Amino acid sequence: MDRYFLTTAIYYINDRPHLGSVSETIAADFLARYQRKLGKQVLFSTGTDEHSQKVERTALALGQPVEQYTQEAAASWKALFDKLEISYSRFIRTTDADHIRVVQEIFQKLYDQGDIYKGSYDGWYCVKDEAFLLESDLVDGKCPHCGLEVQHVSEINYFFRLSKYQDALLAWYEQHPDFVQPQMRYNELVNVMRGGLRDVSVSRSTVKWGIPVPFDTDQTVYVWFDALINYATVAGYGTDRFAVDWPPDLHLIGKDITRFHGIIWPAMLMALNAPLPKHIFAHGFWNFEGEKMSKSLGNVVDPSALIASLSNLIGIDEPMAVDTLRYYLSREGTYGLDVDFSSQRLLLRFNTDLANDLGNLLNRTLNMFGKFRPQITGYPLEPKPALSELFTTTVAAVSSDYGSLQFSAGLEKTWMLINVLNKMIEDDKPWALARDGNGEALATHLATLLTGIWYIANMIEPCMPTVSSRILTAIRRSQVPWGALQWRGPGAELPESTSTVLFPRVQPDQLEEFLAAQATRKTVPGTGTPSPEPPRTESGLISIDDVTKLQLRVATILEAERVPKTDKLIQLHVKVGSEERTIVAGIGKHYDPAVLIGKQIVIVANLQPRSLRGITSQGMLLAASAGDEMALLTPMSPIPDGAEIH
Ligand code: MSP
Repeated sequence: MDRYFLTTAIYYINDRPHLGSVSETIAADFLARYQRKLGKQVLFSTGTDEHSQKVERTALALGQPVEQYTQEAAASWKALFDKLEISYSRFIRTTDADHIRVVQEIFQKLYDQGDIYKGSYDGWYCVKDEAFLLESDLVDGKCPHCGLEVQHVSEINYFFRLSKYQDALLAWYEQHPDFVQPQMRYNELVNVMRGGLRDVSVSRSTVKWGIPVPFDTDQTVYVWFDALINYATVAGYGTDRFAVDWPPDLHLIGKDITRFHGIIWPAMLMALNAPLPKHIFAHGFWNFEGEKMSKSLGNVVDPSALIASLSNLIGIDEPMAVDTLRYYLSREGTYGLDVDFSSQRLLLRFNTDLANDLGNLLNRTLNMFGKFRPQITGYPLEPKPALSELFTTTVAAVSSDYGSLQFSAGLEKTWMLINVLNKMIEDDKPWALARDGNGEALATHLATLLTGIWYIANMIEPCMPTVSSRILTAIRRSQVPWGALQWRGPGAELPESTSTVLFPRVQPDQLEEFLAAQATRKTVPGTGTPSPEPPRTESGLISIDDVTKLQLRVATILEAERVPKTDKLIQLHVKVGSEERTIVAGIGKHYDPAVLIGKQIVIVANLQPRSLRGITSQGMLLAASAGDEMALLTPMSPIPDGAEIH
């Protein structure tokens, strides 16, 4: 059986988990589940980085013995990962006995072979980043990464001969152009190496909370040297298993720790004569209102609090709220780049993608099975052959997206299938088929829906395991490996239940309540920390900050139809870049729906969704009016939809 070894960074436990930190493990879990669906045997590790000066200081500040502090903190990280359905094979703690043994063994070996030597360090140290810094690295005397004060450190310690591996590393990069992804991170690292590598300090004489250097008990191993080795511990370094499990297929990390993973770690492995990891992928950051989430800014989003409030607000159980969060994190933005967290966008995704598109498809299908069952008895339950190719090619395309960590693109394609099925219900008009006694066509219609939903439930499993299994239970079909998805009928087992409302839609007043609760408390969910006051100006004028709050974008109208029983409202289905939305607009007295199709318009893309005549409108279009006249705003020349208006 093919194997796949995937790791996340291990988390410092001096801070509570925030949305940014858990997003990495959720992305890794998505990938791990997908690899399992491909039939691979997956080794997937995540865990906690427990030594270091800052952990020692945090425990001291709380008046707790550091062992007790780390024990409790690690347990709470692990409990959160379990709640988030992280299917890790090993939750590694750097205080685990096997890890301590491996770190000491490696330190000794590198010392014995001359790759580690004793020297003296005189320079700067950033406790927040646990990083040694040169005078020339500092910006205004502060840490170039976090901007905090640095400590002057002058101590005898041990150095790793990084400089010796500079040429070998550069050659490796040249021969493996996809070693580090995305490309910009690869380029950054090559530039750093071309600038010259210095030997790095790998022990501390003033930090007690660390793994003792085996041959010099006055020193502890530098936390990064200790932490990087966790990957080797997971693969059983020093045992027979290492030959089987090593090297990792992928180290998934954030963009802030690429030098440790892309330079120091490969050099350590070269010194150990061990194969290098196949790939390193450095993702971007989840920000809050454009700023990096950090405790000092008071803008961290607490995942547990967010899950609890989602669950209370919408009335779904916690596993469903977890899947909603997993979906949002995977669907929003391009993986690798920075993304801004917005609770509004989270609820919008819930209402449109989950409740409207997926939830409705399932409900309508189950309801029809309940109603029309007698009429299809005796007819073959075979899905429409015409859709076979679309489903088969989409499965292949989604597979390639997931495999290259383009989670959002893969989900978007899956949603295209959901929308094809929803549209098929409109086109086939199954209630008319039932009324006319056309049992055969009705059976084909329902078999197509069931087969399509079976595909979709399987394709979303890596992202939303609970939703996937609940849908499969409802339609009485099973989870299958990726390669076993075949366009064939449902067999004898038909759904029994007539309705399963997986995603109750968020009503506008609930949405307002959720957003208002955050606005009036002026806190980020779960932190209790005030967020900054919005800027104010005098005399009714608005500031540039107010203008930049508006996200205006170009959209192309795909479909337009009158909302029944009104002459004013038109329901538009528009495309905004890679996304499709429904917008209800009061332009019915001025425009005929037919003339709107294909036109480009300007929409407010970040408006709270609202319900108009039972239809959720996801944005507002811009139109000029004077007296009885109205004109839609449109770009002067065609431009790709999704384009932003500045
Ligand atoms: N302990 C080190 C890693 C050692 S790995 C051998 C560390 N820990 S951390 O807790 O600070 O960060 C862990 C991971 O979370 C890193 O990959 C980091 O990039 C990621 N994230 C931290 N904040 C993040 C966001 N706001 N958004 C996305 N990921 C972020 O560094």
